[in-house]
Parts: sequence; structure tokens; C-alpha cells
Amino acid sequence: MTTATAIAHPNIALIKYWGKADEAMSLPATGSLSMTLDVFPTRTTVTVGEGAGAGSNATAPDTLTLNDRPATDAELGRVTRFLDLVRELAGDERPAAVVSTNTVPTGAGLASSASGFAALATAAAAAYGLDLDVRALSRLARRGSGSASRSIPGGVAIWHAGDDAASFSETVAAPPLAMVIATVDAGEKHVSSREAMRRTIATSPFFPAWVTSTAASLERMVEACAAGDFTRIGELTESNALRMHATIQSAEPPIRYLTAASTRVFDAVAGMRVAGLEAYATADAGPNVVVLTRPDDREAVAAELSANAGIAQPVTTLPGPAARLESGGGADATGPAASGAGTAPGAGAPA
Ligand code: PMV
Repeated sequence: MTTATAIAHPNIALIKYWGKADEAMSLPATGSLSMTLDVFPTRTTVTVGEGAGAGSNATAPDTLTLNDRPATDAELGRVTRFLDLVRELAGDERPAAVVSTNTVPTGAGLASSASGFAALATAAAAAYGLDLDVRALSRLARRGSGSASRSIPGGVAIWHAGDDAASFSETVAAPPLAMVIATVDAGEKHVSSREAMRRTIATSPFFPAWVTSTAASLERMVEACAAGDFTRIGELTESNALRMHATIQSAEPPIRYLTAASTRVFDAVAGMRVAGLEAYATADAGPNVVVLTRPDDREAVAAELSANAGIAQPVTTLPGPAARLESGGGADATGPAASGAGTAPGAGAPA
């Protein structure tokens, strides 16, 4: 029996991933760039072998416990499809028992799938004895959920567009950054990002413009990160988020993730800038808004969000660490995935 436990953190994209070039391989239409958070980790244990799954033979199904309850058939199906990829790579057909605890509100547009599949990829690779470096692990995590690829290296990460071999994530140098999370609604989102991406590609007349403009914005963002230009990073972040939501809203039938409460946060952030507090807003596939700011300004931004945007408990975060195996977490906890994933430069602290 082999057990491995991994921890991974969610990430919030500054340049968004929205739309697949190849759905089966989970290849993105454009590259994207994110900051991994140092809050809301997912902890996942994968056990392979005797007693794992419903039985110890190769045909027994996998089992999945999610936040202390048995998973739904849909959740288990997604995890089994991902484990099938790991089993194919490892040449090992045995089922696994997976136990995962998420501290991010599931389905609220705060990237629970990113931390979830990054932790699952890291733990499953170790439990099945795979020798994967950060690049290979990020490619594997990508197959579970695109954005999970960026939670493997940690810190500020770029996920490259390209073919299967080229579409990996890696940490990039960036100036000190912080985020403040404004949760306006912790409920499940009404349309999954997977379904909404499909609909956007199939029906939005603006999708081709989204792809070309995002590719250009990513180039500008990489330049701004290298130059340490916080203002430019912030401007590109807010603009790209609004372009993504405009594109999503232009699908047929339309999908609107931002609500009146989200708009209030965008307005409050614009007001902060006018008042000389530099902050920029972004939002994923849900109503919650994440505010990018400098580390020294994060408490002031949080106070403003409480006072002027009705946010009960803003959560502040600095760049978070790479996905990693928990030390002493299992028989293979010192395996290659642990050393590889844990040493990404710049992870764990503002660069
Ligand atoms: O990979 P998914 O299904 O979690 O899609 C992520 C989509 C966004 O969060 C909206 C954007 C992004 O780049 O994270």
C-alpha cells in the first residue's frame, strides 16, 4: 500500500484562461498568468493498493471523500478520469482511495478546482510512483483542470499555450504583489467554467478578439512583471478581467457571473485609485472579486472594502507556495514530485 498526501493552493489569474484549443488534452486557446495564494489550501491524500478503492483488486472503483462526505457520482467520475491518466503513465491499474479537504468555498469562482487538481496530481503522481518534475507535473495537473497547472509551480506563474509538451506552467519573476479577496457570494456558481467556455467559443462573436487581445496582453504582462512595473501589471489585470466577462456575457444564451455586489467592489476599487490607494480588481467565473495591490497596502485595501463595499471579511494574501508533498505524509512522501515541486524559485514570498 502506498500513500501520499499533497497540499496545493488556489491561484487567481491576472491574465485569464478562457477557452480551450483542444478540449480532450486541455490545451488553452491562449497562455495565462496568475498569482498563487497563501490561503485556502487543499489537502489531498491518495492511497493505492491494499484496501484502497472499494476493494484491493484492479477492477474495483476508486473512492473519493470530499470535505468529509462521500463524493457525488459526477465528482468521482472526474477524479477517476484523471486517475486513469496517472495509471496509464505509471502502468499500474490499481484503484485508489482519495480523501480531499478544500478550504476554499467550492464552486464559488475562487479556483477550488485549481488547488484541488494540483493537490491530486501531486499526491497521485507520488502514490503511483511517478518521477515527475515541475514541468511534467504541471502538464498532468492541466488535464484535471486547466488552471490547476498554474498552482504546481507556485508564486507568480505563467501557463504556456501550445501543444501537450509545450503547455506547462512555470514561475516568473515579479515585483512584490498582494491580493485581497472580496467574497460577495460563497454559493455554487450557476454555470461551470467548462460549460461556459464551450458556450462562449461556440456562440460569442467576440471570442476571436478575446483570443488575440489576451495573447497581446500576456506579452505586455510578462514585460511588466520583468520590469517590476506594478501599475502596468494592475492596469492589464483589470482590463483583461473585464474583457473576459464582456466576452462571457456575449455568449448566447448569455452568462453573467458578475452581480451588483461585484460591481460595487469594482467601483470601490476605482474609488481607492482616485484617492491614491493603488488597487486593481479582477474576478474569475463567479461573482467574487479579488483586488490586486502592493503588500504594504493590503490592510488598507481590506479596510476600504469593509467600509465602502459591504465586504464582511476580506481575506488578504501574499504569493503562495508551490504544490508539495506533506513531509512524513506517506511511504513515498520524499519522492521526486516532492523535491521537484517544492523548489520553484520565488514561491512562497513576494519576489
Ligand atoms: O481551469 P478552470 O476550469 O478552473 O477555469 C478557470 C477559468 C478562470 O478561473 C475564469 C480563469 C483562470 O485563468 O483561472
